[in-house]
Amino acid sequence: MNKQEVILCEGLANSLERAVGQCPHDKLFILTDECTHRLCLPLLKDVEAVRGAAEIVIAPGDAHKNLATLASVWQVLSDGGATRHSLLLNLGGGMVTDLGGFAASTFKRGIAYINLPTTLLAMVDAAVGGKTGINFNGLKNEIGAFSPAASVLIETEFLRSLDAHNFFSGYAEMLKHGLISTPEHWAELLTFDTECIDYGRLKQMVGRSVQVKENIVREDPLERGIRKALNLGHTVGHAFESLALAEERPVLHGYAVAWGLVCELYLSFRKTGFPKERMQQTVHFIRQNYGVFPFDCKSYDRLYELMQHDKKNTAGVINFTLLKDIGEIAINQTADRDGIFEAFDFYREVMGI
Ligand code: GLY
Repeated sequence: MNKQEVILCEGLANSLERAVGQCPHDKLFILTDECTHRLCLPLLKDVEAVRGAAEIVIAPGDAHKNLATLASVWQVLSDGGATRHSLLLNLGGGMVTDLGGFAASTFKRGIAYINLPTTLLAMVDAAVGGKTGINFNGLKNEIGAFSPAASVLIETEFLRSLDAHNFFSGYAEMLKHGLISTPEHWAELLTFDTECIDYGRLKQMVGRSVQVKENIVREDPLERGIRKALNLGHTVGHAFESLALAEERPVLHGYAVAWGLVCELYLSFRKTGFPKERMQQTVHFIRQNYGVFPFDCKSYDRLYELMQHDKKNTAGVINFTLLKDIGEIAINQTADRDGIFEAFDFYREVMGI
């Protein structure tokens, strides 16, 4: 997999001019959803390199991250005369960067693309690392490809207008990066004032967070080994997300990951010796900032069944990434049904259900 350049912008216009300039192309297309078309695209109007670009606008939200929307993007590229030397700029959250990246990586066997993420979740996770795709057959990210962007431009100024829920959703992935990296980064995330955000400090922390992901992806781009570290919190988190969706009380991805971290830190404490105090400090932060996803013991079997269908498993064995300590990662761990139910009991007790 080619290396992608991740740029922490010091002025969007200059960074974008440079990134577009580094990708020789015959025609530029900009993909947005209806929200980023209205709110973010106008911010690029003075950037010479994107003037005259053809616009592709799709409906927002995960429900539209599907084959029909993908086909509509291919259609506009085709009707607009895109060639293998054209360039796609994806401006939006993770839905836009995932779907746009996949559209680019498949059109005429692959054209170059640049990601310009506008949400915290996309900046620290979705837009970085080359995973692209769409949902299919009721399954999230079921169809996709590893195909890195030429550049990812991180412009944290977009975060000033992000609502609190989307802020915390992205922050959960930052918390995960803290847990898998260093005690210093983990501690600065736990002590950051999330009520009165210092955007200068947030920008520095976003830079460090992206660096954690980049380092891992560089070592293992195709998730054969250490990239599984990025799945911490996601085995249980995806089950919470799916249950919430099935019960028509959907939750944002990062919230499900935060609640998943509670269970998986408990499993880490029990199975790989993660320090109890660090688990308690992290759980306290999550309870304070994410509230609680309530469920009773009647949902345990359903959650377990959902975890058995996770695409990270091999031969039906539930695969966990756990921690021995902060930054000490134990991939390819398993837990049996009783152990997982014990983690659900812990979650419900500690979250006050
Ligand atoms: N979102 C986890 C990864 O990119 O591997």
